[in-house]
Amino acid sequence: MIYIGCDHGGFALKQEILKYIKEDLAEEAEDLGCYDTSSVDYPDYAEKVCKKVVAENAKGILICGTGIGISIAANKIAGIRCALCSEPFSAEMTRRHNNANVLAMGGRTVGSELAKSIVKVFLTTEFEGGRHQKRLDKISALEAAK
Ligand code: RB5
Repeated sequence: MIYIGCDHGGFALKQEILKYIKEDLAEEAEDLGCYDTSSVDYPDYAEKVCKKVVAENAKGILICGTGIGISIAANKIAGIRCALCSEPFSAEMTRRHNNANVLAMGGRTVGSELAKSIVKVFLTTEFEGGRHQKRLDKISALEAAK
């Protein structure tokens, strides 16, 4: 299951990405809101998506206007490695090296076709493990020391 959420700044792109995941990638996705363009607070949607991601060892996608606020909020949640990406190379590398479990994008900064290519790479690239796991363990230690 892929969990997806957004604020009002990410709503239009979220709708397109949700359709793309379900129809073109044939993956299951659950939309955790928001559900229209009324003004909301992005940390609430980061929390909804990230709690599911951690509880189910799943993947998530978060979209706000720039992707910045929602990625900052996501990375406050233990167990979340959220990467803000605006092109596919970063999405590939954050899966291979950082084992990112949440992708953030900006609805006002990334066009929908580019966003789809970012999502596809993010959802289909595996973590390489090896030397990268040691670094993720150090990130977990930083989180535990909070
Ligand atoms: C909302 O206006 C906007 O601040 C939000 O979508 C996001 O860009 C924050 O980082």
